[in-house]
Parts: sequence; structure tokens; C-alpha cells
Amino acid sequence: MAYKDVYEAWKSDPDGFWMKAAEEIHWYEKPSKALFDDKAPIYEWFSDGMTNTCYNAVDRHVEAGRGDELAIMHESPITHSTKGITYKELQARVSSLAGALKMRGVEKGDRVIIYMPMIPEALEAMLACARIGAVHSVVFGGFAAHELAVRIDDCTPKAIIAASCGLEPNRVVHYKPLLDAAIEMAEHKPEFCVIFQREQEVAKLIDGRDFSWHGFQYGVKPAECVPVEGNHPAYILYTSGTTGQPKGVVRSTGGHLVALNWTMKNIYNIEAGDRFWAASDVGWVVGHSYICYGPLIKGAQTIVFEGKPVGTPHAGVFWRIIQNQRVKSFFTAPTALRAIKREDPTGEWIKRYKLHDLQAIFLAGERADPDTIKWAQEKFGVPVIDHWWQTETGWAIAANPLGIEDLPIKIGSPSVAMPGYEIEILDEAGHPVEAGELGAIAIKLPLPPGTLQTLWNAEERYKKSYLNTFPGYYETGDAGIKDEDGYVYIMARTDDVINVAGHRLSTGAMEEVLSAHPDVAECAVIGVADQLKGQSPLGFLCLNAGCNRDHGDIVKEVVRDVRNEIGPVAAFKLACVVDRLPKTRSGKILRGTMVKIADSQPFKMPATIDDPAILDEIKEALQTLGYAKE
Ligand code: COA
Ligand code: AMP
Repeated sequence: MAYKDVYEAWKSDPDGFWMKAAEEIHWYEKPSKALFDDKAPIYEWFSDGMTNTCYNAVDRHVEAGRGDELAIMHESPITHSTKGITYKELQARVSSLAGALKMRGVEKGDRVIIYMPMIPEALEAMLACARIGAVHSVVFGGFAAHELAVRIDDCTPKAIIAASCGLEPNRVVHYKPLLDAAIEMAEHKPEFCVIFQREQEVAKLIDGRDFSWHGFQYGVKPAECVPVEGNHPAYILYTSGTTGQPKGVVRSTGGHLVALNWTMKNIYNIEAGDRFWAASDVGWVVGHSYICYGPLIKGAQTIVFEGKPVGTPHAGVFWRIIQNQRVKSFFTAPTALRAIKREDPTGEWIKRYKLHDLQAIFLAGERADPDTIKWAQEKFGVPVIDHWWQTETGWAIAANPLGIEDLPIKIGSPSVAMPGYEIEILDEAGHPVEAGELGAIAIKLPLPPGTLQTLWNAEERYKKSYLNTFPGYYETGDAGIKDEDGYVYIMARTDDVINVAGHRLSTGAMEEVLSAHPDVAECAVIGVADQLKGQSPLGFLCLNAGCNRDHGDIVKEVVRDVRNEIGPVAAFKLACVVDRLPKTRSGKILRGTMVKIADSQPFKMPATIDDPAILDEIKEALQTLGYAKE
């Protein structure tokens, strides 16, 4: 079947399409139908089916006689280790951890925060929660204690599972002190913590509250899989929005299983037994969907990679792993390829490895620039597929579905809508625009299975953030165009979200930190173009009247504050002091205009600007930081 037939098949009978896809999933009780729309605009999928994610991702492959096949390969160029875990071993490890959690009182519906680096135990912790119906929330290791505290207070976990440390190329990330500080800061206190002690750093445990990973499981009875309803939350994953308060995306079990399983073959062309690698982090949605759940649900082999594209130890590390693990489909962020291309433009490292098994490279998380795509196409001779999605959707909205048909690639476009998604480009009044015209990208409701069901404890915020602007549609927060062939082009965000090295960050959250500095009266943070990371945050500070402290010191302090409050991942390193910020007459800061000036792009003077002269001052300040070139 060609892509357009598959898309048509979905459009003409959505329920039939997803019920057929659901046949590949194990159900204790089969759902009577796919879509449950009685609470529209809140939609649910497979609500009356009973299933279990861990059973589908682990046990059923063992029962099918595939227990000795590898489920997870851990590759850590930082610790110089490679380790494989079979499906049978994974089952034993996960059911033991799940049994221990159960013995300590963790039950179906209880939340568990997971704060771990890229080690197989992170996936085991996720699967152990799924096994007993607990709802996990993984927090990325690059966030600081305060961000962890915010998440603890929002999802009120019964337990936290963490590791003693993470390993960045240049330093050990001390997770345990960060965890202790976060629990101290949070109002909600978890009942207990489980700490995986790594060789590189053994953390001090707090008596009565902390258990070591192994001690915790000693002598416990392994837990069986607990059947849960199709609409039972599988996990909560926090993502950046416009304010400092992150949004807790809720993914429900049935749709998650059906959709991810569907994507493995149809988008990534992966079957059971194939080897798939997504070089991301479990703290991000890519890590949830395509390091942990997708490949395992399909019965494929996944790779957990602890390292960086360059410097651990060299720019050939990806290709070495692809060769040695015989990776068939590889998924990474454009930033990672840019980092490699910068160090190895002629592809000398690529030539050293035999990459016969590699059939495609998938890119997502940020705009894939044409230069990088062309470089990869030329160097690897395989399709380089840009696909577009979000934490909220959990899987690709638009892609080139390699497992269905290798569509012609249009560079600059993540290709076409996947079944389940009807993409429209809307003007401000919510009317569809002509092909080729720029507008807000929206998706007709309902969103397909596997996408967010709501925001944790914040249904009104869910409606306000995504559903209210364009009634009948989900607002993606991205702006772009769709051409006559249905190819979409993602041009910019319509909100305060920026994308730094494939990491989604809120400039609003950074502004909250800057404003809290005692000398700062007013501030703005924008995302400026960065050759490697796509965007970098840059802050403007207006100081309190009478403040005559050294500006350099204040800049250093706010840089430190963002690192301490949000985390190193914010990569906030640039700021300048200005007298005033450009605003509209109604007082709205003209961030978009400042971005254009910083990036040396032409811009139209906003008709509503209060005082155009301020733009010259902004330009001058930006020039001192090396931006706004003539
Ligand atoms: N735990 C703790 N700290 C972390 C971290 C983690 N899991 N991940 C990143 N950090 C820290 C880094 O150590 C760095 O700290 P520093 O300021 O002390 O150097 C900071 O956060 C910024 O990290 P990063 O944005 O990764 O920049 P980098 O300069 O270390 O590396 C790249 C640049 C391009 C190599 C890297 O960003 C990269 O591999 N990007 C791809 C990202 C990706 O795959 N995203 C997945 C989305 S699909
Ligand atoms: P995240 O939720 O972290 O996955 O970030 C989602 C956002 O990243 C999207 O809303 C886009 O702004 C951006 N993004 C993701 N994939 C792409 C892509 N292929 N092209 C352009 N932007 C992308």
C-alpha cells in the first residue's frame, strides 16, 4: 500500500484503522472501540480495554520464545563499557524492582519520579512502574534541584528512583545532593527514595528514607503485570511552556501502546529482532518513545547511549556503535550531526566504519537545516528523514513513513501528515490559509492515540494552552506552511519556547529567574541563532534606578542563577544591560523584533512601537556580544 492509501484508509474509517492497529497489542480484555469522545474536547482511546505496557514491552516477547534475544545494549564511551541485557534478564530485573516497589506500598496510580542518567536501570525503573500500574515521571538529569522540586510538588510522587551520579564528559553530575536539595525545597515529601549506586560515586543515603537499589530488592517477591484500563495514565512528562511552571503531559496506556507499535514498522521500518537506536536521553520524549517503549513494544533491540556525539572520545563514536551493534534505523537531533560535521566535515571518521546495516537516519527535535541534511545524505547514502513532533504528541505528526513508502524528500520539510493527524495552517481568525501561505499550525481534533490526553492536574490549562485558540483544533505552537503536495514546513514557534541543542526551553522561565535578581527591574530573554545549537538564549537586563554596580558582575550573577535554578541544560551564557526594552504602546515587549535585530535579519518596524529609538540601543548592546552585524 502506498502512503496515500494508508492515509486515506485512516481518514475514511479512523476507528477501524486504530482497532486494526490495536490487534498487534496484547489485551487482557479487548477494547470495544478505539475513540471515546463522550467528554469532548477531551478525547480518550481504548478506554474500556485492559492491558499492561510492561507485559507488551517485555513478557510477551519472552513468552513467544525470544527471551534470549537482546532487548537493551548499553554503550557508554564515558565508562568504556558495553553491556547487553536479554529480554529474559530484563523481565527478571524489572519484576524484581516492581516487586520491591509494591512491597513498599507503591500501587496502581501512584506517581514515581525517576531522575537517572543514561543507564539501563533508567528503563528498568520506567518498566517496573508500568508493570504495577504506577505512573512514572522522568526528570532530565540536566535540570537543577529547583526544577526537580517543581515537578515533585506537581505530581506528588510516593517514591523517587535516582542514581548516585550522572557522567558528563567533563564532570561528574552529583545527582544525590541535587535530589536531597529538591526534596528539601519541595512541599511534598516522597515516602522513600531508591538510589542506584554507581561505581563512579557512592552517594550517602539518608537513613529511613533512602534505599540502595540492590538492598531494596533483596529477598522480594517479583511482581506480576497489573492489568490497567486503556485510559490509565502510563506516564507524566513535563515540558516547557510559556511560564516557569512546566506542563505535565499525560500519556495514557492503550493509545501509547498502539501508536508506538504502529510507528515502529510504518515510520522507522523496524520489525521484531531489528536493531534501533535513538541517541537521545530518557528525560525527553524521544527517550520515552524511542529509547524505551517503542523498540521494546515491537520486540526490537534498543541502545542506551551514555555519551556525546563528539568528544567521547571522538566524532566517530556514533558510527562505531552503528557498525558494532548493526543498527538498522538511527534517530538523532540535527544538532548532534552539526557537532560531528564541524569536527569531521569530510567524513573521515565515517569512512572507518562499515555501516552496511544502516538503512536510514531520522532527525527531529528542532529544525533540520538543509546543509546538515545534504551533508548526511552525501556521506551516508541512505535516506535522511526529518520528522516533526512534540512532547505532547509522543510520536511524529509529519514524517516520511519509510516502512510504508520512501516518499520523495523535500529538503526543509519534515514531509507529510501521518495517519491520525489532519494538519491545517490557520490565520489569526482560525481560517485555513492557501497552500504556501504562512500561518499557525493546528491539528483537527481528535488527536490520534498516543498523544496527550490532558495535563496533569490542570485540565483547564490544557484547554487554554492547546484547545481554546482555534475551536475544534489542537494548537501546536508552531508556525509554518503546507505546500500543494501536503508537505509541511516548520518555521518558528508562536510562543516563548526556544530550542537549544534539541532541548525545549522556556524563555519565560528564564525571565522569571532574571527578574528575581535584586538589581534587575525588568528583563527579556530571546532565542538568537546559533550555528551549532540552533538557538541560544540571550538576556536583556534593565537595572533598578540608582544601581551602580559593575554590569559584568550582574551578568555573571544572572548566568549563575539560571544554571542553579533551571540547570546547565538551559545553556544560558549571554546577557547584556540596557536602559530600556522596546515595547508596544500597550506595554508588550517586542521580543520578535529583537530576535530579528540580533540575527541581522530584515524586519518591519512594528506599527505599535512606543519609541523606535530604543531599537538602536538594543542593536548596539547586541553588537557588543557579537550579534546584530550590519
Ligand atoms: N545531566 C547533566 N548535565 C547535562 C546533561 C545531563 N543529562 N546534559 C547536558 N548537560 C549539561 C552539559 O554538561 C553542559 O554543561 P556545561 O555548561 O557545564 O558544559 C550543558 O548541560 C549544556 O549541554 P549541551 O546543550 O548538551 O551542550 P554541550 O556543549 O555539552 O554539547 C552537543 C553540545 C551538540 C554535543 C549536545 O548538545 C548534543 O549532543 N545535542 C543533541 C541533543 C539531543 O540529542 N537531544 C535530543 C532531543 S531529540
Ligand atoms: P519537544 O517537545 O521537546 O519535542 O519540542 C517540540 C518542538 O520542537 C516542536 O514544537 C518544534 O518547535 C520543534 N521541532 C521538533 N521537531 C522538529 C522538526 N523536525 N522541524 C522543526 N522543528 C521541530
